[in-house]
Amino acid sequence: MLENDYINNNFKITLEKGAFKKKRNHSLINIEEFWAEEAKKLVWYKQWDKILEWNPPFAKWFVGGLLNASVNCLDKHVESENKNKVALFWEGDNEETRILTYYQLYQKVNQFSNALKSLGVSKGDRVTIYLTMTPELLIAMLACSRIGAIHNIIFSGFSSQALADRVNDAQSKIIVTADRGFRRGKIVELKKIVDQTIDDLPSIQNVIVFKRSSNSIKMGKQDVWWHDIIKNQKSYCKPQQVESSHPLFILYTSGTTGKPKGVVHGTGGYLTHLYSTAKWVFDFNKQDIFFCTADIGWITGHSYIVYAPLMHGVTELIYEGTPDYPKPDRYWSLVEKYGVTILYTTPTALRMYMRYGNEIPHSFDLSSLRLLGTVGEPINPEVWMWYFTNIGKEKCAIVDTWWQTETGGIMVSHCTGIEILSMKPGSAMFPIPGIDLGIVNEENKYLSKNQKGYLVIKKPWPGMLQTLWKNNKKYRNNYWKKFENKLCYFTGDYATMDNESYFWLLGRSDDVIKISGHRLGSTELESTFVSHKSVAEAAVISKPNNTKGESIIAFIVLRKGYFESEKLHRELIKHLRKKIGPIATPDEIHFVNKLPKTRSGKIMRRLLKSIVIGVPTGDTTTLEDGTSLEEIQKIYNEINKK
Ligand code: WTA
Repeated sequence: MLENDYINNNFKITLEKGAFKKKRNHSLINIEEFWAEEAKKLVWYKQWDKILEWNPPFAKWFVGGLLNASVNCLDKHVESENKNKVALFWEGDNEETRILTYYQLYQKVNQFSNALKSLGVSKGDRVTIYLTMTPELLIAMLACSRIGAIHNIIFSGFSSQALADRVNDAQSKIIVTADRGFRRGKIVELKKIVDQTIDDLPSIQNVIVFKRSSNSIKMGKQDVWWHDIIKNQKSYCKPQQVESSHPLFILYTSGTTGKPKGVVHGTGGYLTHLYSTAKWVFDFNKQDIFFCTADIGWITGHSYIVYAPLMHGVTELIYEGTPDYPKPDRYWSLVEKYGVTILYTTPTALRMYMRYGNEIPHSFDLSSLRLLGTVGEPINPEVWMWYFTNIGKEKCAIVDTWWQTETGGIMVSHCTGIEILSMKPGSAMFPIPGIDLGIVNEENKYLSKNQKGYLVIKKPWPGMLQTLWKNNKKYRNNYWKKFENKLCYFTGDYATMDNESYFWLLGRSDDVIKISGHRLGSTELESTFVSHKSVAEAAVISKPNNTKGESIIAFIVLRKGYFESEKLHRELIKHLRKKIGPIATPDEIHFVNKLPKTRSGKIMRRLLKSIVIGVPTGDTTTLEDGTSLEEIQKIYNEINKK
């Protein structure tokens, strides 16, 4: 633990001591009233009639209220002194740069809204956006929200198969893409990837293509150029007033079942959650240059690159590339170049930079930084200390923010906008105001301090997902069944609370794997393996990895007539990358004769994991046949000998 005095010497505590605790305690007396006060900070056309309609497990916040997300992000500023303030500094992977003020962004969003309308897109229609991190990604998102269309963003690293699954599930009308994007100096052939699957996407009426290069590409009958479609569009589009619970977007994420789930977020509750958490956690102010290094293809980008900073009129830096290309100094050189004041990144990126040594960050002027953040995975205390010492020079507070795609916004964090508290490296600290958390054991009992259990959310919160797209049943089963009698939301994470009530997030309790902070499901990976002609059965687990957090380990049983070989090994890796994307690259593939299963046929991943990480396997009484374990143990004995 860092000593109180130590921290106090380094920070000016401007608020009265105990302000955070007071606010938090007060918020829990009447959670609904508390959030209603927060919601008043947004721009509404009509205030709500009812704060919360709770038909467990379905919550509707601010019922009867009418608003528009793009108005909260843009019009509000255009009508204020922020009009000509820089909204975005953009750096491309290919070192292209662009700057957009709030007014310029507003005009572009309005034009693109009109363009979408001209193609027949209206309120409630789904629009898939498949772009790398360019301003057009934000423009397209905000244009959707302006006309009440529901955006469905697909990470540009996903393959055509992953794209097709998501477009078909959401039944999107339009895809917005580009002729190409760039990553690590390489071209990402976005349009070609769309073309590979366009015949399998019956709901798609048009593909809008942003032109980034002078090379010509094949344009099909449904394809339209972005620059053509906006040509004669007016620079004002009347915003669509939507109900507070109107879906703002669908974002697919991995879970414990084979297919990704379409998490649905509403408008009024979600935006309220973001507006408040951004203020409490990051304490945004007029001078801030905010750099969130996430990709908008994931929830962090949706919430804390697009909606939260823009609602606050912050200037932000958007970066298309990766942390180590062309050199392992990109974040630090960008911090220096733009005078970034808040850096919000991942433990994976920090671990990578740590490996490259301290000289690199020390050779840049990082003195503009005032606050550091992390998200996506547990941060190891050593990494936390490295960040605090080498990047923040022991002057910046750290916010380790715990949350999920499903929670919409931050749930556990140091709230530096309320009060700077004594920090403990590796702890995400406390639930934010208005959030009631508990830790429960398998027997459904709340645990006291210093005991490890499942993290649950006891009361609905405004950023809460509404459901899974067209699948209320799965929504109920996934999140609300495990602790049904308590009516608690099951997060899937393990946690513990220490003597001083600090929360420690201890990783997933289910079969969700986090590779560089990105979610993948064991079952999803296993079904992808099995979709290869050579594979009869697959079991996928993860093991700790010094850089990526976790790495993918697969055990494969081959079909009759197929034999283990280097070539097949390579082919399976290629298959995974093609079906899901490069993040799904397995680190180890082992060919075995049998998988450890229960008598009812369930793969016992727990036992595989014990062998892989080298701990005792524990209870094996439900195992159908021990020879499978012996074989795997032998493989690992060989590996460990090397
Ligand atoms: C993990 C990312 C520890 C956790 C915003 C959660 C974390 C999952 C942290 C959600 C953190 C996220 N400390 N673990 N600060 N933040 N996680 O949906 O396991 O991509 O359940 O959302 O990431 O991942 P998702």
